[in-house]
Amino acid sequence: MTITIDELSDTVGAEVRGVWAETLLTDESLPEVVLDALEEHGVLVFRDLHLDPRTQVEFCRKLGEVDTSPGHHPVPGIYRVSLDTSKNSSASYLRATFDWHIDGCTPEDDAYPQKATMLSARAVAPSGGETEFASTYRAFDDLGTAERDHLTPLRVVHTLEASQRLVTPEPTPEQLEAWRRRPAKEHPLVWTHKSGRRSLVLGASTDHIVGMEPERSRALLDDLLRRCTAPERVYRHEWAVGDTVIWDNRGVIHRAAPYPVDSPREMLRTTVLGEEPIE
Ligand code: OGA
Ligand code: MN
Repeated sequence: MTITIDELSDTVGAEVRGVWAETLLTDESLPEVVLDALEEHGVLVFRDLHLDPRTQVEFCRKLGEVDTSPGHHPVPGIYRVSLDTSKNSSASYLRATFDWHIDGCTPEDDAYPQKATMLSARAVAPSGGETEFASTYRAFDDLGTAERDHLTPLRVVHTLEASQRLVTPEPTPEQLEAWRRRPAKEHPLVWTHKSGRRSLVLGASTDHIVGMEPERSRALLDDLLRRCTAPERVYRHEWAVGDTVIWDNRGVIHRAAPYPVDSPREMLRTTVLGEEPIE
């Protein structure tokens, strides 16, 4: 069967049909098709794929280097996304996925933001827990020339504290100390990619714009994020068990719609490591 790729919204996301778990690793043209489609659409949805964890990791290896740091799952390269602390010992940090973000803006080391992230639904929430996506390429492309010129020289400090404060506004001294151990990172607001495309670097980790008065800085960042994620610019994925979604983490921001801490929702995640810095 031939592969078809159909857009899911005007700005971001496409559904891929004609791909099966059984042939994922043997179809030699597929990795390139997926990488090209990711570049074009930002998010790819494969419904009903029922990927087993090993196949997921093996396929992701064809897209780039896979993160195999310990992930509380027997298969290296798989990390459990769950708010249940018995399934994921860093679950408490994951409530920050309820706010718009790019993965890997405040790494512990000098790692580049991840190239792509794949999630497969193992169990879904009875309500909530959809994942939403918005294109930061499109957000930049749709700006007028004057605004582009105004934003392009700006630099932004990103911190783990900024993103964690949104879900834990009154941290204990211990929490604050742990957040602050993670180094702050300075990134340009406008990312000029190797491909020549440009995107906005936005999301929960933005602390402030360098050299700008704090209130103005917050207002500018909030306004850009609000416009980038206006409802008509968002693709919202309603999960069914067996779905797999992959997104281009360089030009797409994402968030999970809130779901209860005791929800059975469990996603298996594989991360394709980044190859280019934000610059
Ligand atoms: C992530 C993430 C969103 C979700 O794994 O990086 O943000 O819907 N997940 O679980
Ligand atoms: Mn994320």
